[in-house]
Amino acid sequence: MNVAIIGGTGYVGLVTGVGLAAHNHQVICADINETKINGLNNGILPIYEEGLSDLLSEVKARKKIHFTSNISAAVEASDIIFVSVGTPEGKNGETDISQLVRALKSIANNMNTYKLIAIKSTVPVGTNEMARKFLQSNLKNHSCSFDVVSNPEFLRVGSAVQDFLSPERIIVGADSKKAADMMKKLYSSFDTPIIVTDTKSAEMIKYACNSYLATRISFINEIAEICEKVNADIHAVLDGMKLDKRIGGLYLSPGPGFGGPCLSKDIKSLINTGVKANANVNLLKSVMGRNDVQIMNIMHTVEHELAEMDAKKVSVLGLSFKAGTNDTRNSPAIRLIEKLIEKNYEIVVYDPVVKQLEDVLNPQVTFSKSADEAAKGSDCLIIMTEWDEFKKMDLKSVYYRMRTPVIIDTRNILSVEEAFKAGIRYSGIGTRKLQNKETMKVYRNIV
Ligand code: UGA
Repeated sequence: MNVAIIGGTGYVGLVTGVGLAAHNHQVICADINETKINGLNNGILPIYEEGLSDLLSEVKARKKIHFTSNISAAVEASDIIFVSVGTPEGKNGETDISQLVRALKSIANNMNTYKLIAIKSTVPVGTNEMARKFLQSNLKNHSCSFDVVSNPEFLRVGSAVQDFLSPERIIVGADSKKAADMMKKLYSSFDTPIIVTDTKSAEMIKYACNSYLATRISFINEIAEICEKVNADIHAVLDGMKLDKRIGGLYLSPGPGFGGPCLSKDIKSLINTGVKANANVNLLKSVMGRNDVQIMNIMHTVEHELAEMDAKKVSVLGLSFKAGTNDTRNSPAIRLIEKLIEKNYEIVVYDPVVKQLEDVLNPQVTFSKSADEAAKGSDCLIIMTEWDEFKKMDLKSVYYRMRTPVIIDTRNILSVEEAFKAGIRYSGIGTRKLQNKETMKVYRNIV
């Protein structure tokens, strides 16, 4: 089928375009950002995603995908037009849908025959309905008919290509049989259940999924804190929980709180939708509140460990919001660094892929070339991202490099026992503290 993607150079748009081209559809990725379009035409990807570059080369060679900044031409040439523009957090909990409205305006101006408009952007419940009315009243060529469907994405940063090519389900919110049938045809080569529902329920599925994942994370972070207070061990607790099939083990890793471009934004948007609809949204508010507590707790641990020290050099290992990406949007590491700056700590950072921060933070931190270098002369090493290379650190060497051998491992990637054996004062999230006279003595000697 002929498909256009508006917002086709963005993370979701580009992966969707390349993925549909790989399934033999004829795709035009359209975007108002000419620099990105020119780059893509010259083989330069605006984002890094595992497998994307190779798949793009393959579909380009088969002439299945094209990139253009000419939105009108893309609309005219296509049967299905995906909209995958950004829907960032707006003012007062509202979602900013201005980019979506701009995209709808271009579609309304350029419709030349029946079009199916598929909204992939995460949009508040009711937006598809609004889009249909907006298109109807802005249509230039009144002889054209159209449908609007909701087709939310479930792509994780870092495994987006895989998530697109092998989805666990495809959600289609459609208010007409013709629209639903066209979407089923588009995805007919995917070996995946297609759930067809109404547009509002489809929009809601996306918010419910992200909010549920975030709820599990906040839940386990709270359990981990209680474990610490009562001297139970979160690893053992999780082993006992995850074998219960009703619970399972995914999205139950305690940590510094969820980050990234979507989870927080989507819960806040859902809270806003609920409040406006007079629903009780206390649980969702607590999920967000708990996330803020995680960073506060890490700060308390840092302050407690360094309370009696004069020099306070803190090393932060990991800047991206999770391993496998250079994305630092809403990263817990950045939220922590902001708090460390407020408290005037000397901050050294290291991340295997993130080599600079926003302009305002950059001058306040010193970048190291390796985790080992970051540990040199440090009073406290805080692991914020679960990169493999941090799991393999030689703890004895870290011990000798640090001024005060304190590690706060917010991803629980090190072994409590190994850290203890290396003489390190170790704190995980919900893990037991192993400190005997030996560790205490080493700590005091160095101080
Ligand atoms: C998330 C969802 O997982 C995708 O399904 C969804 O499509 C996407 O948002 C979106 O709305 O576009 P993503 O933002 O890439 O994907 O991140 P996740 O892999 O879900 O992780 C989110 C955060 O939770 C990360 O900071 C991660 O470190 C944290 N996390 C995850 C935990 O703290 N514990 C866990 O057990 C799992």
